[in-house]
Amino acid sequence: MVTAYDYPGALHAQNAGVDLVLVGDSLGNVVLGYDSTAPVTLADIIHHARAARRGAPDTFLIADLPFGTYHTGVTDAMRNAVRVIQETGADALKVEGASPEVLEVIATLTRNGVPVMGHVGLTPQTATAQGGLRVQGRDEAGAQAVLDAAMSVQQAGAFAVVLEVIPARLARVITERLHIPTIGIGAGPHCAGQVLVTHDLLGIYEGEHKKIAKRYAEIGALSTQAIRDYAAEVRTRQFPGRENSFVIKDEVLDKLY
Ligand code: KIV
Repeated sequence: MVTAYDYPGALHAQNAGVDLVLVGDSLGNVVLGYDSTAPVTLADIIHHARAARRGAPDTFLIADLPFGTYHTGVTDAMRNAVRVIQETGADALKVEGASPEVLEVIATLTRNGVPVMGHVGLTPQTATAQGGLRVQGRDEAGAQAVLDAAMSVQQAGAFAVVLEVIPARLARVITERLHIPTIGIGAGPHCAGQVLVTHDLLGIYEGEHKKIAKRYAEIGALSTQAIRDYAAEVRTRQFPGRENSFVIKDEVLDKLY
């Protein structure tokens, strides 16, 4: 699974043959320039998921329900879920956490035919309450809490669950105990699947090296260099060249006054 937030991103993901595309609310960090996912709105997700759907029409597409869109009761959650599904064509939705309220939302959505992916461990929408962006489930109580969260998300009806930033061996235990697939990010190699934020794997942001990600390209550096080359060629009048220009006959120009 990889994230995509627009038409080209989703097109590349589909062409690469990934199994799942996630329109994650990491949108806030990597596309919209916020320092967290909290400011991402339902309108943002709908706008971006519509574009991603057009880029990946044949790949299972999951959209995040943003912070606040499923925290004011199951009726609001259901209404917002229906909007995302109807307005974007997403196949499923993802929600974070395993509080009783979130579990009720997962149960309500799945009972009403909306497939839901859960997300436990580090949950960026509420990371401040977790003490920041840090590894979850390291001590006995914490590990038990993450296992319990994953089990209850499954019990509530989720078809899969993201495990974010937890120890690899804890992810292994959870993966073995659950019958739904686990999708790991910063959770080691034993999960059923893996997810990365595409901007991290493509190396869009120069100089940013996250422990949980691997940079498979340096697209950020390539982009900056390409734009620098273009600007230099414009300034030295090397671009546009003859091959980029259109011709007109002399007699047409001669008739101008
Ligand atoms: O928003 C996101 O991109 C996510 C993934 C990191 C799982 O939730």
